[in-house]
Amino acid sequence: MGTTLNTDKRPIGIFDSGVGGLSVLKELVKLMPKENYIFVADQTNVPYGEKSKKELGRLTLKICDFLVSKNSKIIVVACNTATCNVIDILRAKVKIPLVGTVPAVKPAAISSRSGVIGILSTPSTSKSRGLKKLIETHANNTKVINIGCSDLEDTVETGNLSSPKITQLLSKYTESMRIAGADVVVLGCTHYPFLKPQIKRVLRSNAKLVDSGRAIAKHTKNLLQQMGALFVSRAKTTSRTCVDFYTTGNPSHFSRVASSLLKSPVRAKRISL
Ligand code: DGL
Repeated sequence: MGTTLNTDKRPIGIFDSGVGGLSVLKELVKLMPKENYIFVADQTNVPYGEKSKKELGRLTLKICDFLVSKNSKIIVVACNTATCNVIDILRAKVKIPLVGTVPAVKPAAISSRSGVIGILSTPSTSKSRGLKKLIETHANNTKVINIGCSDLEDTVETGNLSSPKITQLLSKYTESMRIAGADVVVLGCTHYPFLKPQIKRVLRSNAKLVDSGRAIAKHTKNLLQQMGALFVSRAKTTSRTCVDFYTTGNPSHFSRVASSLLKSPVRAKRISL
């Protein structure tokens, strides 16, 4: 039996407070290059990591409404902070399926040999009930060093990933993990995968770094398949994936930083929500 063709070209919506969500977009595009995407960065309001739950709910709901108005078939919340704090609110109000992003605690606990794992995330994620539940469920027998990190996402937003400030911040945030012998470190903010080499350097060990990007892409694909909304064609085109980029901030700044993070030219448009 041949594959059933499906020409559902409605876009996959994806959003974050800023450029961090691009680390998830990369994995989605790798797995589903023929889909269309709409990416929203809420850079007027970055960082999300120190905002109240109420404020996060208000901001992310506006983005979801925008993505629904653009006819998205599914929305990927490429933000741990929003997922851990307000995904229930969004699920209750948004009429299309949502895929959340949570810190990869489960795979980290499973693969740890030392029985000590570190979690780096935003202050708000680190204190959230969402993360607490994940730790209770999946890392019950593991020592977890849970660190909320201020300012890291802001430095990624500037695009200057080799600034001394990043090394300073990372040394401070990873110190207790290093001392405790964590052999797996969870990157619990979508901005952090862009800092992998810097994090490796300050950890000064072979600790494994895990993020959720690939798992989210696989989950999104499965969900689209179940919905009968996965684009399936037999054509072996090599045409480039179509992504519409929007920012609530400065489009030329976003385009410059995103082009360098994705190593491919990006041209964003501005939206006010
Ligand atoms: N990248 C987001 C996350 O995964 C939010 C970072 C922020 O704006 O504080 O949590």
